[in-house]
Amino acid sequence: MLFESGRASLYALLKALGIKPGEEIIVQGYTCVVVPNAIHAAGGVPIYADIDPDSLNLTAETILPLLSPHTRALICQHTFGIPADIQSLRKLCDEHSIILIEELVHAMPDQKGPDIGSLGDYVILSFGRDKAISGISGGAVLSRHARTTAALLELERTAIHESWWNVMRLLEYATRMHSVVRPLAGTPLLKPAVWILQKLRMIVLVVTPEEKKGRMSPILKKIPNVCAELALFSLNKLQNLNERRRTLTAFFLRHGREHNWPMLAGITVNLPLQKFPLFVLNARAKRAVLKKENMHLDDGWTGCVICPEDIDLTETGYENGTDPAAERVCRQILSLPTHPTMTLIQAERLARRIDQLLKPEPASM
Ligand SMILES: Cc1ncc(COP(=O)(O)O)c(C=O)c1O
Repeated sequence: MLFESGRASLYALLKALGIKPGEEIIVQGYTCVVVPNAIHAAGGVPIYADIDPDSLNLTAETILPLLSPHTRALICQHTFGIPADIQSLRKLCDEHSIILIEELVHAMPDQKGPDIGSLGDYVILSFGRDKAISGISGGAVLSRHARTTAALLELERTAIHESWWNVMRLLEYATRMHSVVRPLAGTPLLKPAVWILQKLRMIVLVVTPEEKKGRMSPILKKIPNVCAELALFSLNKLQNLNERRRTLTAFFLRHGREHNWPMLAGITVNLPLQKFPLFVLNARAKRAVLKKENMHLDDGWTGCVICPEDIDLTETGYENGTDPAAERVCRQILSLPTHPTMTLIQAERLARRIDQLLKPEPASM
């Protein structure tokens, strides 16, 4: 069943499941604000489980102490495409009669894996513009259970159409990337050009000001046909797109091993990662240095347990100190891009710069 975005698909699923007020959905610390927003909009309560710092995913051990008679479901995120230990999550869900929702939002497996998305009761897909398959916007729910499927089909049928103006604004993204951002990248003209587009309200934000305040519209919209067509086009190229990401992941992994980068144990050579995380001290300062050299590593997943950083944390229900590993990770993370448009030459240049930044500073006299 298709909807206008991944977050709308998650909300539709929770509605189709008939989540009752106060029922709890376990999610991980270190996630995007749109996830708790969808849970709140459906009447549920997000409960935040800490993550395993080697995979950035929740684990059966971090979830167990949070289970209660109100627990209804858990959402496994496979952060940045690093696979969670889905077998043990499946076992835990079976033992406690909990629904397992797998998100294939950060990565989409192909014939070469990773083996994710096959054990969840439901799977959420996103076709957002920064995702493995891009339709600029769009999302889907896959369901294994006939009753929920029927409810989802009805929600899909009654969802309203996106306005033509919003569809035009979505399509603006491709034009902006090709005609404005890429040609003007690195020049002083880029910022004013993007500012003008924003002032003209041409740009559809990935996370809106309302969403940053914890709100989500309860009105479900259909995926625009043009976005569905683009997503299908992208899906047909998935193997190639993933191969590009695998090549970049393998490059950073090899380079990192040779240069003793502080990397995650959960990253293996064959993963088509959405981004390649490193953990460094003073990550914010290092990003600022790189930004001046036109290397932008701030992807919204830095400095915040619920991302992006400028959200209203109180509205998410997350209390500081709940998930210490997630809080440490988000402070120290430096994410290297693995976007299919990135070349190996650009990756090498970035890797060399990271080597310099990771060198211990000489002791002052
Ligand atoms: C973990 C997670 N789940 C769900 C979503 C929602 O996807 P979409 O942007 O298509 O709404 C996102 C968006 O980035 C996300 O990071």
